[in-house]
Amino acid sequence: MSAALFEPFDLGGLRLPNRVVMPPMTRARAGDGEVPTRMMADYYAQRASAGLIVTEGIQVSPDGQGYAWTPGLHTQAQVAGWRAVTAAVHAAGGRIFAQLWHVGRLSHVSLQPGGAAPVAPSALVADGVQVFIDPDRLGAAAGAGQKVQHSAPRALGTDEVKGIVDAFARAAGNAMAAGFDGVELHAANGYLIHQFIDAGTNLRTDRYGGSLANRLRFLDEVARAVAAVAGPGRTGVRFSPLTTQQGTSDATPQSTYLAAARMMDGIGVAYLHIAQADWDDAPPMPAAFKEALRLVYSGAMIYAGHYDRARAEEAIGKGWADLVGFGRPFIANPDLPLRLRSGTALNGGDPSSYFGGGARGYIDYPPLAAGG
Ligand SMILES: Cc1cc2nc3c(=O)[nH]c(=O)nc-3n(C[C@H](O)[C@H](O)[C@H](O)COP(=O)(O)O)c2cc1C
Repeated sequence: MSAALFEPFDLGGLRLPNRVVMPPMTRARAGDGEVPTRMMADYYAQRASAGLIVTEGIQVSPDGQGYAWTPGLHTQAQVAGWRAVTAAVHAAGGRIFAQLWHVGRLSHVSLQPGGAAPVAPSALVADGVQVFIDPDRLGAAAGAGQKVQHSAPRALGTDEVKGIVDAFARAAGNAMAAGFDGVELHAANGYLIHQFIDAGTNLRTDRYGGSLANRLRFLDEVARAVAAVAGPGRTGVRFSPLTTQQGTSDATPQSTYLAAARMMDGIGVAYLHIAQADWDDAPPMPAAFKEALRLVYSGAMIYAGHYDRARAEEAIGKGWADLVGFGRPFIANPDLPLRLRSGTALNGGDPSSYFGGGARGYIDYPPLAAGG
């Protein structure tokens, strides 16, 4: 088998020792005030042998939160918590980007400031799409959240949109102050930026809705504002053109995302990160689509979704991917690159401890050296 996955890569001037990415994964273990904890620093440091770590989604503002116990990047206490995380990862020899997240409508009134309705491009509900909340509001000790239908959102006024763009830019500044190597915009999986892009979730008639150019305007404004703060070479963008589970399903994904990719190329962002799977929702992505993305976008390409070593080597070998994300395998295998390289069997993960709870199923998966 080719070993391209273990060759170094230059990502916007950042040298990655291998092509194995830990993609963003919400683990819902932040402490009071949505502040990252020491345990989170341990978790990420254990996985520092990844070529690149992208953190779990981090809300850029209080109204950007959609699930219990997810961390933020909008208070000084949160910045201090993240500083300990980045220091631990760097001390262990790793590199880490922060995923900047606003959930838009996929939230619940119990998580919103003052119990307000979540904000969205349009006041539309995705029936059956659930978020998890803290049933007792007891804090992280409460363990697993309770899954509930997301709350009905209200549509953002045109003059409110700039405030959210500014929140993304502030969070990018906070990320760099906290020692992150860069930031990734979460424009995937049915959250706010995706809600603006998708014709089914954006029925606006102002300059942020209607034509494709208008539906891409919010993405453009956020990406420009964030790149101006973090530097385009330290900014990545995540899209999920084909997944449908979170209430977004583009009728013409190729033309939508080729236009979005071309726009990101104009800004000069360091990478595009394609989420081919959200969970088990993994529609096949035609090779022609991947090849077309390469033609319109000149930065690095990351793919994630049900990859194993053979598929990853194929994606790099065919020229579709530069880097490949392994999500669930990284939860259960802190030293995943070593295991992939040596062909060692992987630990299985325990989905019941993915979201919420303590150390169990979080920092207790054994590395190979411990006989795991
Ligand atoms: C527990 C869990 C949490 C996730 N949270 C996020 C997230 O915060 N942001 C995001 O963009 N994707 C998130 N994802 C999607 C993953 O980044 C990845 O695309 C997905 O797990 C498919 O890759 P895999 O098959 O290798 O696990 C999450 C996935 C899992 C399993």
